[in-house]
Amino acid sequence: MATVHTPSMEPATVRRAFDVERVRRDFPILEVRHGGRPIVYLDNAATTQKPRHVIETIQRYYTRENANIHRGVHYLSQVATDHYERAREQIARFLGATVGCEIVFTRGATEGINLIAQTYGRKFIGPGDEILISHMEHHSNIVPWQMLCEEKGSKLRVVPITDDGELDMDAFGRLLNARTKIVSIGHVSNALGTVNPVRAIIDAAHAAGAIAVVDGAQSAPHMPVNIHAMGCDFFVCSGHKMYGPTGIGVLYGKVEHLEKMPPYQGGGDMVLSVTFEKTTFNILPHKYEAGTPHIEGVIGLGATVDYLNDIGMDAIAEYEQNLTRHGTQLLEEIPGLRLIGTARDKAGILSFTLDGVHPHDIGQLLDEDGVAIRVGHHCAQPVMQRFGVPATARASLAFYNTKEELDTLAAGIRRVQKVFA
Ligand code: ALA
Repeated sequence: MATVHTPSMEPATVRRAFDVERVRRDFPILEVRHGGRPIVYLDNAATTQKPRHVIETIQRYYTRENANIHRGVHYLSQVATDHYERAREQIARFLGATVGCEIVFTRGATEGINLIAQTYGRKFIGPGDEILISHMEHHSNIVPWQMLCEEKGSKLRVVPITDDGELDMDAFGRLLNARTKIVSIGHVSNALGTVNPVRAIIDAAHAAGAIAVVDGAQSAPHMPVNIHAMGCDFFVCSGHKMYGPTGIGVLYGKVEHLEKMPPYQGGGDMVLSVTFEKTTFNILPHKYEAGTPHIEGVIGLGATVDYLNDIGMDAIAEYEQNLTRHGTQLLEEIPGLRLIGTARDKAGILSFTLDGVHPHDIGQLLDEDGVAIRVGHHCAQPVMQRFGVPATARASLAFYNTKEELDTLAAGIRRVQKVFA
């Protein structure tokens, strides 16, 4: 029997010890077989699998609750609105936001960063201002700022990284100056796994008079996040990378910023009144949610954080750390394998190259063993340039992975080597 976790069933105070076999039963897709073997899903940085509780919540939404929100006086609309807004509160609590209206729903982390660049950025960034990012950013934390800099005549500056894939914090200190208006840094690198010291970065940014944006796409699914304690001005993450639905993301913004920024898109629901002469905008957070939103995505994401809370993000982080250590050790023992990203503080991302074998061949041959990894530049081409490789093979972990699956990965890599020997 599969276990469906709900907080009502299992309050945090009586939480059971983390049990990976029990957790795995919550994810129906892990039962799928490919070529007669179970799938070893190690592509979690690209997207994660969904627990039954989330799938069933979305199914219930469409079978029992579907209606447009904020618009109807009828029963179904009120139920849908209620569940949508309740999910906002759940997600705010999960991420450690202070109030629900600091949470704006987007399509994903990418749209969140674009929203900040196109609203806060367009209003407050001017010629000569500087935006500071790092060399390990995902394209979604590079390109929106480049576009803004081009439009405004401002300058994009880049914090270098060390050979281990850590941020060069001395260089960060030197690059930060009175012209820096925005510091935007990934919490965890999707290509290297590095966990960045965001608290120190945010404090330094504030001391220099800049605001701090944190891209949490790869941290929110794997460790406890407390935005309030972190102190950042904006935080973004993606539902589908945290075991929730695709097409839904979260933008956290401090109220003081959200209040003074212009809207991102115009349309229904983001207005209070419209005449041909003048439109007044809705209160937070609705001012940033034009049009019918991704209702089932939000409700599904609410169910996701219920599920994650029930397991406990501390337990998830601890389990994944053990898994990462095991995987790192296995890969380090393989001759000719180069780990790209060996930071002291790492999340569950194992990027590597293999002497004499193109990463695409590694990916294809591992697929024959049922092992799913990602190969390529991982939307982080500057990282590849920094390490002098065109691409890497990347195994990215989640809390439903097991040590045995990593053993299968390592055996698969050794088989690849034999094929190319
Ligand atoms: N950003 C996603 C990844 O790292 C797509 O694979």
